[in-house]
Amino acid sequence: MKRIVVAITGASGSIYGIDLLKKLQKMPDIETWLVMSDWAKQNIVIETDYTVEEVASLADQVADNQNLAAAISSGSFQVDGMVVVPASMKTVAGISLGLDQDLIMRASGVMIKEQRKLILMPRETPLSAIHLENLLKLARLGVQIIPPIPSFYSRPETIQDLLDQTNMRVLDNLGISSNFAKRWGEKQA
Ligand SMILES: Cc1cc2nc3c(=O)[nH]c(=O)nc-3n(C[C@H](O)[C@H](O)[C@H](O)COP(=O)(O)O)c2cc1C
Repeated sequence: MKRIVVAITGASGSIYGIDLLKKLQKMPDIETWLVMSDWAKQNIVIETDYTVEEVASLADQVADNQNLAAAISSGSFQVDGMVVVPASMKTVAGISLGLDQDLIMRASGVMIKEQRKLILMPRETPLSAIHLENLLKLARLGVQIIPPIPSFYSRPETIQDLLDQTNMRVLDNLGISSNFAKRWGEKQA
């Protein structure tokens, strides 16, 4: 059994987090924990056809972002991997400073201090030197930075193609095997 934390923040692209939850929900032996920031909840309504309740129902456990007493707030609670998807520049800054101000920052900081797998999917454009410095600091600490940037060699045609491609790479990096998109080197259909 693998326990994976999915944190959705208020950057554009909450659909990436929703898609990742849907993929993980179909996999046996994966327990998901979901945390949504206040702005993630707003973003879900602005950018998608999902309700916040529907997104919550995709996870095995849901923790409130203000609940710093949640299990995932402690390093003694075993977690195999955490993905912040999408990661706002505010949350990236908070994690890089070690603020631990809300559960997403705290649980991310726990992953870093316990030297466990933490993946950030930062979304902003253009990126300022502040954003880049924060991300560089985290990358040097072993945090994996996987921006939702598509490749086009697989000829994506739909938004779902883009989600499949990027989230397959996220799952690869969590050590969860999947085949949602064509990989480079595979024969064209
Ligand atoms: C529709 C919408 C889109 C946004 N897109 C981004 C974005 O792509 N990247 C980003 O860093 N912030 C974005 N923001 C701003 C964040 O939501 C804001 O900084 C917020 O404080 C982040 O808080 P959180 O990290 O706790 O979710 C967006 C806000 C809205 C309303």
